[in-house]
Amino acid sequence: MSQLYAAGDDVHATARHEESHLDSSPVLSVCDLEVQFPTPLGLVRALNGVTFDVPRGKVLGIVGESGCGKSVTARAVLQIIEKPGRITGGSITLRGESETTEITGLGPDSKRMRALRGSEIAMIFQEPMSSLNPVYTIGAQIAEAVLIHQTPDRDEALRRAVDMLRQVGMPHPEAAAASYPHQLSGGMRQRAMIAMALSCNPTLLIADEPTTALDVTTEAQILELIRNLRDRAGMSIMFITHSMGVVAQLCDEVIVMYLGRIVERGSVDDLFYDAKHPYTRALLRSIPRIGGNRKAPLEVIEGSVPDPHHRLAGCPFHPGCPKAIPGRCDTTVPAPSTAGPGHTVQCHLYQADEIGHPERAENV
Ligand SMILES: Nc1ncnc2c1ncn2[C@@H]1O[C@H](COP(=O)(O)OP(=O)(O)O)[C@@H](O)[C@H]1O
Ligand code: SF4
Ligand SMILES: [Mg+2]
Repeated sequence: MSQLYAAGDDVHATARHEESHLDSSPVLSVCDLEVQFPTPLGLVRALNGVTFDVPRGKVLGIVGESGCGKSVTARAVLQIIEKPGRITGGSITLRGESETTEITGLGPDSKRMRALRGSEIAMIFQEPMSSLNPVYTIGAQIAEAVLIHQTPDRDEALRRAVDMLRQVGMPHPEAAAASYPHQLSGGMRQRAMIAMALSCNPTLLIADEPTTALDVTTEAQILELIRNLRDRAGMSIMFITHSMGVVAQLCDEVIVMYLGRIVERGSVDDLFYDAKHPYTRALLRSIPRIGGNRKAPLEVIEGSVPDPHHRLAGCPFHPGCPKAIPGRCDTTVPAPSTAGPGHTVQCHLYQADEIGHPERAENV
């Protein structure tokens, strides 16, 4: 895998890498995003005012338990939310190489939005079969993407497809290109999907739990591949995971989500050495230890994942929070407060209270 984007073999990647030093504006800015799903049982508020940036040339991790809104956030960026779900508020801004696009100003089926998907923003999923077509060879599918985005020459597109497979560390790339998806192992399919996502040289790569279904060794290889994309190609990556262990291995910055809200944001060091939010601390306790089951689900604080149809007043975490302040946490949503440079937390414990006594993190 170390050959990935070896010096001089990818002009676009090199150019972007240089540009990443020049341009420090975030590649993606999401502001106050709201997504709702009307269902027969009532309205599900999947995202309730989500705000974050994806820094250029870095890996932003999005972590949280199942159902907290990670995939909906990713799908909102691509405007592929399952109907009748829809974005009901907020904005999403993509700062591409040549232009800035207000994604929320585009129709989900508009020409510009279709052009953005796959070319400027590529997504890889937990289950590669959801993006691979079972009736075409891997090579043909990657070549199709190359034909759309890079060259009209079919033979050249196939050559580039094989080269792409080689770059993502696929063993026997020629044979893999001639194979159908079901003939490959899960790890190989995941590499094939990453090769397809990269074939159009995207500005932003979104990875939604791409290693969750893989064994530990293959997961480590895929994480190394993604690290290489950041380090050698300067790619900006939004990496969704439910595992704090994966965050530690891969990410530069992290947002922690709980029930459709961001509860804490900071650098990996902020979160691992100075976590503030009680929910982040619970997640940290969930990291498997040596000898433990590392694929085990996150520790869930009892009663912490309420029915999504039921809208809770106050902090969404209050029913399971060991630090909840009665009369406050169950009535008022905490506003974000600064815990340090680039480190924010949304919890009443870190806010000056109504009578002006700041409650210190040290006391928590
Ligand atoms: N198609 C859908 N219909 C109704 N509700 C949905 C749908 N997709 C997602 N949701 C709601 O959005 C919440 C967040 O889902 P999701 O983003 O998929 O969670 P995760 O963090 O596990 O990726 C879910 O708990 C669910 O309530
Ligand atoms: S705001 Fe209150 S309930 Fe919510 S996490 Fe902080 S202490 Fe717990
Ligand atoms: Mg998900």
